[in-house]
Amino acid sequence: MKKRKDPLKVISISSGKGGVGKTNVSANLAVALARQGSSVIVLDADLGLGNLDVLLGLAPRFNFGHVIRGEKTLEEIIVDGPDGVRIIPAASGIQELTTLDANQKINLFSQVENLNDKVDILLIDTAAGISHNVLFFNLVAAEKIIVANPEPTSIIDAYALMKVLHLKHGEKKFNLLVNQARNKDDGLEVYRNITVVSDKYLNVSLDYLGYIPYDENLPKAVRQQKAVLEVYPDSESSKGFMRLAEVVREFPPSEFNDNLQFFIGEDENSVMERNPA
Ligand SMILES: Nc1ncnc2c1ncn2[C@@H]1O[C@H](COP(=O)(O)OP(=O)(O)O)[C@@H](O)[C@H]1O
Ligand SMILES: [Mg+2]
Repeated sequence: MKKRKDPLKVISISSGKGGVGKTNVSANLAVALARQGSSVIVLDADLGLGNLDVLLGLAPRFNFGHVIRGEKTLEEIIVDGPDGVRIIPAASGIQELTTLDANQKINLFSQVENLNDKVDILLIDTAAGISHNVLFFNLVAAEKIIVANPEPTSIIDAYALMKVLHLKHGEKKFNLLVNQARNKDDGLEVYRNITVVSDKYLNVSLDYLGYIPYDENLPKAVRQQKAVLEVYPDSESSKGFMRLAEVVREFPPSEFNDNLQFFIGEDENSVMERNPA
């Protein structure tokens, strides 16, 4: 008898600050997970300024804008990326997608749920900032990976994102990945700096997933529009992504976040209004 598939694991990748490496982490973690035997889809949730397709050298004909306009289903716009990873591309330069309304969210959520039996892991590459959409995609995910690098600005923004998700939406569990660390101690120091503040002011748990080293090969791969794992599989960042995938595969089977239903119906602007600082 065929073994029943584990439930879909939905994992968001966010940071608060832009440029810390979310999209590269999403793409390479996906490739690493695929090489370790998982079936993976990456959703580019930077809906107005998506660039995951560009990063991977793909030229999708349709994108998320078509889904939102009801012209295509989510499944119809999926494109094939490296190593069997599949990508749901975002639109670029379409401002109306920067805030999804309640109907769009419900529609998207049910389409994501329908992917369940075809995929093991759904990674969600989110936009920078703490906009309504970013919070929504974090609430869709049962596991949240917060990416920070050793710069103080990135550490502050990672904390700010956790703070909003905790204080406004009751989220309690986060995972930290340090990107662009010089070495193991550099990564651990970022983790310590964040936990000093989060332990003091927030009632959350933050698990450390380790670090991805700063690696010149990564921007080189970006310029070739490839995942670093494709073109420099033996580089230090590639090894970091393979280590990360091993940790992520141990995330408990989770499916969707229970908090989500309370968020979907909320007024679009209420999150920002209630959270001026
Ligand atoms: N581990 C790393 N080593 C070296 N450079 C990196 C690393 N991670 C990211 N970068 C650089 O940062 C840039 C921005 O990364 P990106 O994934 O687009 O960030 P985000 O999605 O958070 O905005 C990359 O194009 C690359 O040049
Ligand atoms: Mg990005």
